[in-house]
Amino acid sequence: MKVTIQKLQQWKKEKRPIVSLTAWDYAIAKLLDIAGIDLILVGDSLGMVALGYENTLPVTLDEMIHHTKAVCRGVNNAFVVCDLPFLTYQTNITQAIESAGKVMKETKAGAVKLEGGYPAMIETVSRLTEIGIPVMAHVGLTPQSVKILGYKQQGKTPDKAEKIFNQAMALEKAGAFAIVLEHITQDLATRITENLSIPTIGIGAGNRCDGQVLVTADLLGLSEKLPPFAIPYANLRTVILDSVTHFSEDVKSRDFPDEKV
Ligand code: KIV
Repeated sequence: MKVTIQKLQQWKKEKRPIVSLTAWDYAIAKLLDIAGIDLILVGDSLGMVALGYENTLPVTLDEMIHHTKAVCRGVNNAFVVCDLPFLTYQTNITQAIESAGKVMKETKAGAVKLEGGYPAMIETVSRLTEIGIPVMAHVGLTPQSVKILGYKQQGKTPDKAEKIFNQAMALEKAGAFAIVLEHITQDLATRITENLSIPTIGIGAGNRCDGQVLVTADLLGLSEKLPPFAIPYANLRTVILDSVTHFSEDVKSRDFPDEKV
């Protein structure tokens, strides 16, 4: 059954946790969809995971669209969200409408995600939703601001926690249908979750959010470096390295292919 925004919001009311993971290509997306993942995020983390960039800043809108199209081809049921990359929506509202509009016209994603809150993003979210583009918000650690925030946990002082709380409230009011809470304290994430009627999807924000998301490369043990909150459920780096080394040895020793094949 297809996942919709209405279902995601209903699941919050029913306290049914929402399961989300990132995807960057057809093969991964297809497996996540078969596994019944509710929400697939084509995150701009694909810049590091799939494109070898140092951070998310170099990712372009065309790269996001290219990968989102591939992901959508692998998905039957999950709700797909495409990240708007750095400087494709922050310049002004016209730029945000053009970028989000291009994603909606050229891919089968159901929504876009953008980072940040006060004051500009509140207006941007309000304008995008007004013209019919669903927006997922993202506060706390926003990786597109890595040069200012680093990758540290956010909202640790009462003032900073209050600012993030107020941003989340304002983003819901502006029309966001859900919000990612990244690397903030469990207390703050719980307070936001209890005070919003839209679902909160946590990443490094404790276990009281309405759902959880992880970067799939971290979950599968494909990433070279892991954030402190990611737990690998597999070690695909080792599986791949072992398989490739084994194949290489077999070719060199002429054990592959088998004589009779
Ligand atoms: O880009 C991404 O993968 C994300 C998640 C970490 C939420 O934004």
